[in-house]
Amino acid sequence: MSIAVPFPEELPEGYQWLSDEPPFDPERHLSLESPSQTLSLEDLGYSPEEIQDKATAFGVSEPFRILSKEGSEVMLETARRLRTYSRRAGNRIENTVRGGCYRSRWLRDLCISQDVNDLMASIYQAEISPHTMPVHLGHLNYQPSKLEEAVDKWHHDTIPLDYVMMVSDPATLSGGGFEYFVGTKMEAEELSKQGKTPPRDRVKAPKFPGPGYAVALHGNMVVHRGAPLTKPGERITMVNAYVSMDCLVDDQSRSRDLIGIDDPAALYAEWAKHASWRTQNRLQQIIDSMAFDQEPDQVLDQLEFAANDLLKTINDMKAGPREAQHYEQ
Ligand SMILES: [Fe+2]
Repeated sequence: MSIAVPFPEELPEGYQWLSDEPPFDPERHLSLESPSQTLSLEDLGYSPEEIQDKATAFGVSEPFRILSKEGSEVMLETARRLRTYSRRAGNRIENTVRGGCYRSRWLRDLCISQDVNDLMASIYQAEISPHTMPVHLGHLNYQPSKLEEAVDKWHHDTIPLDYVMMVSDPATLSGGGFEYFVGTKMEAEELSKQGKTPPRDRVKAPKFPGPGYAVALHGNMVVHRGAPLTKPGERITMVNAYVSMDCLVDDQSRSRDLIGIDDPAALYAEWAKHASWRTQNRLQQIIDSMAFDQEPDQVLDQLEFAANDLLKTINDMKAGPREAQHYEQ
């Protein structure tokens, strides 16, 4: 079992389970396959120094199958039922449902599935867990009301690792593809400063064979978007997040961006648990292996490193909301 922080037993205030859901059955609902190809962060242009403290050197994969036909049907039905809770997420996504795993037991069980976790770990080549913060599990995006709007603008994620799954059938859509930039987030930032988006010859749009297929993504490092639809249609994607079990690597999170987006009833407690889990592991490393005969400064550096996530969390919570980072369309 690879679980960083267990999914809470109790629901936050204001949430109720959907009624009449089928139980999640891995035998019937999953059809796990490995991607045929992957790109590393190096392939995208990152240097060894930029990669060394990250969760993994993995970048992005070709689409691979997660759900069976029956699983895809339940996923679509679940997403349609949850749509009534969709809201705007800052200035980036018009229609999104977060916290869906507090409403659908089926979605929760898919998102914390250890079978899926094992597959994702083999793809990322890292020991991972479903994300410590349930607001990052089973994130749903729906098409915007205006056709010309990107479903989700160019960005990199506030979380380290995830997959993006097609929930609606991509064959029924014109446009609306998932796209990623074959480049770094620093390059995307430079382009953005010049009022430009990633050039088309450096954008890849993987072809998804059907609903229930996903790409694995080092979401915090790979610049990506949901492109605009060219004809009206139902476009739903699901994003599920993972964290590295190695708490000595960079957190790769921007939880402060979630203030004003996620329900505070859930967000703050989840965020506190995430930072506590990371800090606990870093402190444990000191208890286990702090050497004698070090300079006081060396000891201090290690203590500061261990406390870093907790202090940053406290500062971010005190500082309050800021505009979520993204590049233009
Ligand atoms: Fe994303």
